[in-house]
Amino acid sequence: MRTLFLAIFTICTAIAASSGEIASPDGNFRLSINTNTEGEPYYSLSYKGTPVIVDSRLGLQSPEANFDKGFRIIGTDTCHIDRTWTPVWGEYAEIRDNFNEMLVKFGSMTSGLEMDIRFRLFNDGLGFRYELPVQDKANYLTLKKELTEFNFTGDHTLYCIPGDYDTDEFLFSEVPFSGTSEALARYKGVHSESESIRETAVQTPLLLKTADKTPLYISLHEAGLIGYPGMSLTVDSDKRSLSALLTPDRLGNSAYLQLPVLTPWRTLIVSDDARDILASQMILNLNEPCSYEDTSWIKPMKFVGVWWEMFVTDATWSYSDDFRAKPGVTDYSKIKPNGHHAANTANVKRYIDFAAKNGIQGVLVEGWNEGWEDWASFKKNRQFLFDKPYPDFDIKELQKYAADKGVQIIMHHETAANAADYERNLDKAFSYMKDNGYNAVKTGYVGTVIPRSEHHTSQWMVEHVRHVIEKAADYRIMVDSHEAPKPTGLCRTYPNWLAQESARGGEFEAFGGNPPSHTCILPFTRLKGGPMDYTPGIFEIHYWNRENGKKSQAFTTLARQLALYLTMPSPIQMACDFPETYERFDDAFQFIRDVPVDWADTRYLEAEPNRYITVARLDKNSSDWYIGAITDDKERTALIDFSFLPKGVKYVATIYEDAPDAHFMTNPQAYRIRTINVNSKTKIKQRLAPGGGTAIRIAPAQIANK
Ligand code: NOJ
Ligand code: CA
Repeated sequence: MRTLFLAIFTICTAIAASSGEIASPDGNFRLSINTNTEGEPYYSLSYKGTPVIVDSRLGLQSPEANFDKGFRIIGTDTCHIDRTWTPVWGEYAEIRDNFNEMLVKFGSMTSGLEMDIRFRLFNDGLGFRYELPVQDKANYLTLKKELTEFNFTGDHTLYCIPGDYDTDEFLFSEVPFSGTSEALARYKGVHSESESIRETAVQTPLLLKTADKTPLYISLHEAGLIGYPGMSLTVDSDKRSLSALLTPDRLGNSAYLQLPVLTPWRTLIVSDDARDILASQMILNLNEPCSYEDTSWIKPMKFVGVWWEMFVTDATWSYSDDFRAKPGVTDYSKIKPNGHHAANTANVKRYIDFAAKNGIQGVLVEGWNEGWEDWASFKKNRQFLFDKPYPDFDIKELQKYAADKGVQIIMHHETAANAADYERNLDKAFSYMKDNGYNAVKTGYVGTVIPRSEHHTSQWMVEHVRHVIEKAADYRIMVDSHEAPKPTGLCRTYPNWLAQESARGGEFEAFGGNPPSHTCILPFTRLKGGPMDYTPGIFEIHYWNRENGKKSQAFTTLARQLALYLTMPSPIQMACDFPETYERFDDAFQFIRDVPVDWADTRYLEAEPNRYITVARLDKNSSDWYIGAITDDKERTALIDFSFLPKGVKYVATIYEDAPDAHFMTNPQAYRIRTINVNSKTKIKQRLAPGGGTAIRIAPAQIANK
């Protein structure tokens, strides 16, 4: 079904003007656009009378034509639009798209160039993009710089990860503008091809908080990143200013364009209530509607997989230890297996059995195909074969076994960032998937990008990943991409793009750990672009660290892992731990069996970035509500008000909570399960252990008691 669009209100006017001003539909935001004496375009934004962005520059520079100065405003077109649409999956069954729009037309007094900038002011923030119409004085552009600035009014706190054109797998810093140089310097040393910008820039989605008595929360990102490089932000800590930094290729050019051009939207979500930042759907609203006629093949799901064992045991992705093996040349049936290759037929069947028994739809299998022996060499033009299983992975037998049990095997395509080779083999890879009954793929781009001219977030890679998604849709394949350019809400247009990693994920619990605050900041930052494949569900908190051979632990309680299914919403959610572990904690695993991955409604009950989140969600396919609450490393009492429930209906709440003596460091597996009766008048105080959490299932009493 195509995404439903209901235009309920539209009024438009065009006028000749020398400046532009609009307000948001509720009047809280005011935006003004001007040019200075040099003809340089500027914008400023206020919220409830408080300046948020003060005179900040706009413009684009390229050697063929500069759209930066000498302009005057020659007219504005304004529109009010109020409409509602139905996403294929997500946090809400329906989303309202309500904004005032102003298209500001700039004309150059000297060069004759024309540039339009489209501004949309919503009740939750601002989006704007450059639109370069077809014109006589310019056709091709080699984009060197986008001049967009975000000049703030004070020493706001930034919740940020450092700039890097190739990776976003960092922990966040919470730091005022004045402390950014020192904070960013601490990120030196994790190798990537573009480490050099770590000390001067930050990545988006970025969150800022003002130091006012009633602070403002400001989320800065982009929407609809298509045909353009990803944007980071150069920090000027003295001026309290951020400016666009477009990822260049290795020739130093950011984008190659032909007019007409629509850039991605630059987005600012602003509120004096932190919960509004989480609830905002503005980025999805700025993306184009779903581009597919039929979406019936797109099915949200939970999955288990041959995965976590490669992180916390000696199991390997590779079949052998022979680093000279060459996919397509070496006969793998003649080389010596290493004896601990995880993706073998018998082991995969174990996961299929577990999934079938527990109503889990998918089983991911990593390490099934030729190429893993030297996968991090980044030296080979052909690293992996996407249609050649290792000798101990019987793809046909597993297809039948899984189908008989009603389980889907999820394909894995690690590319080792050799995007060029993947693109060459995409049709072959997807046909092979379809021939063997697969309808979902996890892709990966670990390492140094090939073509070697490119970074992970450069224009070429942005277009590569979009091509993969569109091609996948031709084959009716759903995609979960890792190490791809950060999401910008394109899952609205391409709903088969179920999730991305694009941040430091749960896997880091096996490499030193993610402090509990990490999952209290990701929903305010990374998740504003779209769902994350965070891979929650660690029940065996202590594990063997394969890097140093010592005993290690994840920074979480067991109950917190359950809450993450609510606080990190995604239409594809892993239960990452081992079947035998879940069997040991079967009563707690019941929550993972039950929890949906697609929602009719969402209410953020409590939230403060980097500290805590409490959220309630209504299942799209039943009348059950679920709550997830998490805290940072401090103990906390969540105040849960059940007034979101319909009046007069009795419910039973099953509470999965930290035991009174639980603590994420010293006693992480201590949990309790209890039930209470609740209705719309109930209010409870719910204790969360340090680093802990609570997950609640709320079912109508007559159903729960059956
Ligand atoms: C990094 C991904 O994030 C992880 O999930 C995957 O298992 C490895 N790459 C290997 O592809
Ligand atoms: Ca990763």
